[in-house]
Amino acid sequence: MHELIESRWSARGYDPGASISVHDLETIVDAGRWAPTWGRLQPVRFVVGKRGDDTFDTLVGTLTRGNAGWAPRSAALILVCTSDRPDDPKEHTYAAVDLGLAVAQMSLQAVAVGFNAHPMAGFDAAAAVRAFDIPSDQRPLVLLAIGVPADPATLPDEIRERDEQPRSRLPLSEVAFAGQWGTPAFGERD
Ligand SMILES: Cc1cc2nc3c(=O)[nH]c(=O)nc-3n(C[C@H](O)[C@H](O)[C@H](O)COP(=O)(O)O)c2cc1C
Repeated sequence: MHELIESRWSARGYDPGASISVHDLETIVDAGRWAPTWGRLQPVRFVVGKRGDDTFDTLVGTLTRGNAGWAPRSAALILVCTSDRPDDPKEHTYAAVDLGLAVAQMSLQAVAVGFNAHPMAGFDAAAAVRAFDIPSDQRPLVLLAIGVPADPATLPDEIRERDEQPRSRLPLSEVAFAGQWGTPAFGERD
């Protein structure tokens, strides 16, 4: 795998002293803008907060309890929204796919410019809609934290222990098939 993909992970123990330049932050959002979209509809929108500004503080205020313990230490928070058209099931489905692709591209661009990216569903979307006056045909789905992992020795035990947990995936043989559903396409791989 490409090293950008191999080195991506969702950290929690960010360094509260690390900041991100506007330039690096812009490249991350731009990577999301350039993600493919169904029918070229480009339904994805971004609300960008950099630590120290009002947008960041407002986004911190929407975090649910589990994320409020670590995400305020990030250098930036990006609220990722997509079109909300339940009346059009096809657009509705693919708008969410488009958002996922944008988040994936942003996460890899974050790694490329020396940061870690951590996607979150744990935030109050309704509060974000109110705070930013998000139009009714848009829905916020993901809040993406961008940060720099801190020296583990400086982290609270709970955050350090969660970050140190081994990462794993289902074996490739259980998720990739050929010929027939359930028949592995490849040999064993972790
Ligand atoms: C849509 C989505 C929502 C997520 N929401 C949260 C969240 O609210 N809080 C959190 O700590 N992690 C959240 N995660 C991160 C996952 O827990 C993480 O990606 C998963 O454990 C795999 O770890 P890895 O990213 O290090 O490979 C979310 C991930 C995705 C894709």
